[in-house]
Amino acid sequence: MSQLGETAEELPRPERFADVAGWFSPVDQLLFDWFLRRQDEREQRGDLLELGAYLGRSAIFMGGYLREGERFTVCDLWDSPAVDDPNSAELSFSYPTLTRRAFEANYLSFHDELPLMVQGPTSVITSHVGPCSCRFVHVDASHLYEHVTGDIASTREVLLTDGVVAFDDFRSEHCPGVAAAVWGAVAMDGLRPIVITGSKLYATWGDPDRARQELLRWLKTRKDLWHAVDQVAGAPLIRIKGKDVESPTPPVSRHGAPRGHDSFLSSRGSAARRLARDFLPPVLVRALRSSRRRTS
Ligand SMILES: C[S@@+](CC[C@H](N)C(=O)[O-])C[C@H]1O[C@@H](n2cnc3c(N)ncnc32)[C@H](O)[C@@H]1O
Repeated sequence: MSQLGETAEELPRPERFADVAGWFSPVDQLLFDWFLRRQDEREQRGDLLELGAYLGRSAIFMGGYLREGERFTVCDLWDSPAVDDPNSAELSFSYPTLTRRAFEANYLSFHDELPLMVQGPTSVITSHVGPCSCRFVHVDASHLYEHVTGDIASTREVLLTDGVVAFDDFRSEHCPGVAAAVWGAVAMDGLRPIVITGSKLYATWGDPDRARQELLRWLKTRKDLWHAVDQVAGAPLIRIKGKDVESPTPPVSRHGAPRGHDSFLSSRGSAARRLARDFLPPVLVRALRSSRRRTS
């Protein structure tokens, strides 16, 4: 199945969240889930924003936490030209066949309505998202220093005081500009890190202490996550690693097989499924699988 097609026939039709192309590791899915559920439990209201949506992997996940009366905005260039040459080179190298329609097809496979889609450079985002309106922002657009510093300034403007921001690729060798911009904001702009994973740094411009303490309590209950606390720039910073992490339940695709059918015969899962695979005649297993493919 192509994720990047141009014609209707080639548009993606993901059957499972795992079919959506993108970069969003299980450990970060767990942390998004932890922060967004915590906001829900604390009845913290506010909008969601993603800068850099690509084909929708992280957006689809975030969309599952949107509540009545809240707005989810995603901003991406998709198939529009970039505003400068370095950004243009970054796009043609990393996302050569990305299209807005592919994002829409993916997103609508999991949710009934699209988020507000701002197709353009992230520098325009504050014209679409109001000041102090967001409880959670995911920054994952250009990885060039000049763009990321702009995204940080916009995020600071739109984020509520107790809101949380997640920065992607804050330490990767291929994008030193993100590291420079994010740690620059920590040193100079009052950004306060809470936790880091291998790919993302989670921070706030509010008070990080309570979230850190609650996160540490939760981490003690997770045998699948390694963690440690370092002192960085005079404050504790939680570090998390987890290779064989159990992801939170992913959003469900409308193209997936009906319950009790796909789930019954998929390759991973319950003892009942394994028993069925082992003891049903192969011809029956194959027939059920192919009828599942025809109906999905
Ligand atoms: C790493 S991908 C996003 C991945 C996505 N969040 C996920 O987890 O699957 C980065 C995205 O940023 C977009 N992008 C790059 N520069 C941009 C800019 N200046 N303004 C808006 N979007 C940009 C690219 O088109 C690409 O879709």
